[in-house]
Amino acid sequence: MKIAVLVGSLRSDSYNKFLAENMQKRYQSEHELEILEIGDLPFYNQDDELDPPEVVKNFKRQVADADGVMIITPEYNWSVPGVLKNALDWLSRVDKVLIDKPVMTAGASPTALGTVRAQLHLRQILSAPGVSARVLPPGGNEVLINFASEKFDQSGRLIDESTLEFLDRIMEKFAAWIKK
Ligand code: FNR
Repeated sequence: MKIAVLVGSLRSDSYNKFLAENMQKRYQSEHELEILEIGDLPFYNQDDELDPPEVVKNFKRQVADADGVMIITPEYNWSVPGVLKNALDWLSRVDKVLIDKPVMTAGASPTALGTVRAQLHLRQILSAPGVSARVLPPGGNEVLINFASEKFDQSGRLIDESTLEFLDRIMEKFAAWIKK
């Protein structure tokens, strides 16, 4: 499967970016996870949506061409980071490339709640009419990696066995969700 990955943190040592990279490597024999650059997108402007800058056109094309989309994000002030909301706003307009697109969400934080409040907001955004993504249902499928500083090593490798086993199960479920 070809899976487009959006990471909600631009930080070089981001746990969420590490998570995306670990998954990209771990599942490379079955899935092609492509981490898309959302930090280069300009702020969404309705004046430009019919003929957006090339970087936006490319981004939308990459999402449209993917079999599924994975969104891996930190929580900023109990919600999703602005850079991710901006990317989703672009995707929600004109050709609306997320409609019916299989999506799964995940997040990592150094705190106890593992981005749960951001994930709830994200699910709300993903159900808006211009987005209407086909999101992997929550029951048992919520990837909330808390206390991230204990689960990744200094080089960004995910070393927590139970988290890795959980991710393996979720990836199988997501692949089935995409095929559905
Ligand atoms: C945070 N952080 C944070 N953590 C949390 O659990 N709930 C929150 O609401 C917030 N809010 C917040 C706002 C801003 C602007 C920053 C910079 C940080 C802490 C956050 O979880 C931590 O910095 C993570 O490491 C960010 O994710 P990455 O960059 O490691 O992927």
